[in-house]
Amino acid sequence: MRFASQTSVALAISVASLAESRPSLSSSDAGKTSRRWLRGSDKIRGVNLGSQFIIERWMAGDAWSSMGCGNSNDEWSCVQLLGQDAADAAFRTHWQTWITADDLKEIQSYGLNTVRIPVGFWINEDLVNDGEYYPRGGLEYLDYIVGNCTELGLYVIMDLHGGPGSQFPGQQYTGHVVDSPGFYTGDNYERAYQFLEWMTERAHTNSAYFSVGMLQVINEPVHSGEYPSEAADMIADYYPNAWTRIRDREAQLGTADSDKHHIQFMGEAWGSGNPNQNLPDTTFAFYDDHRYYKWDTAVSATQDGYISAACSDNRGGSDIIVGEWSISVADDAQYNSEFDIRDTDANNDWYKQFFAAQVQTFELSGGWVFWSWKCDYIAGFNEWRWCYKSAVDAGIIPKDAASAASMSPC
Ligand SMILES: *[C@@H]1O[C@H](CO)[C@@H](O)[C@H](O)[C@H]1NC(C)=O
Repeated sequence: MRFASQTSVALAISVASLAESRPSLSSSDAGKTSRRWLRGSDKIRGVNLGSQFIIERWMAGDAWSSMGCGNSNDEWSCVQLLGQDAADAAFRTHWQTWITADDLKEIQSYGLNTVRIPVGFWINEDLVNDGEYYPRGGLEYLDYIVGNCTELGLYVIMDLHGGPGSQFPGQQYTGHVVDSPGFYTGDNYERAYQFLEWMTERAHTNSAYFSVGMLQVINEPVHSGEYPSEAADMIADYYPNAWTRIRDREAQLGTADSDKHHIQFMGEAWGSGNPNQNLPDTTFAFYDDHRYYKWDTAVSATQDGYISAACSDNRGGSDIIVGEWSISVADDAQYNSEFDIRDTDANNDWYKQFFAAQVQTFELSGGWVFWSWKCDYIAGFNEWRWCYKSAVDAGIIPKDAASAASMSPC
């Protein structure tokens, strides 16, 4: 997710599922897919594995402290601070403990069918240049997470969340907080293509990765308002080439049409332009929509304002997945009496409605992926407005995700 002032974002990639249990985005899609969508349910219902492979300090403060990352703001500066070898060891402990096999079982037990896994390009260590500072050794943990997802029948959206050079300024989610985004060059595009080719091959040839059905080519790139030439260049160059490189690799592998990846782009609502503009084809193209009412200044920051915004929204067709959202509210209203959650249950019923209203609306489209499954130490209290697991424990999110839409106040 993207913080207006501080940090972060998440995103994700793809989903796949087991032969019998693939979901389809809508019943009309069911006939045209085989391996890549779970058939057990008709909508994507998922959570992001945020801060697993790209730690965002704002939402994982306890973990960050225990790793010894101190005041460093991103993975890059923590690796610099600790030194490569000590950083690798500290990150390893995090990868082993943040999202575990038990978390994935719990995710499945809550009626969720999808996880989106934000990863940095550096999980493929061959793509890291000299003079770049990223932790090493994460791939082994990605292998077991997707392996467990495959066993559990969870569909995986594999999200290139942190691109080479950083695709957005000032954000922890890129892994390297920069003043000026460095992604939009031929060399960095090439590294991203190589990441996508490598992930495509892994997903199609390593049986642990059969859960991986969707590849998101880049999470949250720059907006055309602030960075018109970079955004235009990405639409003209990076998007179509990313598409072609994935499809060419699948052709080399002899991947059946029905098993080809769903390829995901940020949708037009994100503000970088029309992702389809130069694509050679749009078969199995999907679009990611990050819908944070919290940051939408057109929405009135009142209980009624949020509910009516969520109830009157419609994000588009079944090829649009709301890949990030939460039940957090505007920073300057979140501790008002009508929104506070510290030491009070008074607003719990309203938060249940806010969750359900969004679910119902997002299920008009392809479905939804909450940001995030787990967090710790946001502002020093149990801040479940960002944390699905904690919100279930608090009784805000129902234990059966599929039941939420029917609880909507809309
Ligand atoms: C599931 O995760 C555990 C670690 O928590 C790992 O030992 C196991 O190999 C994983 N299963 C698969 C199929 O990858």
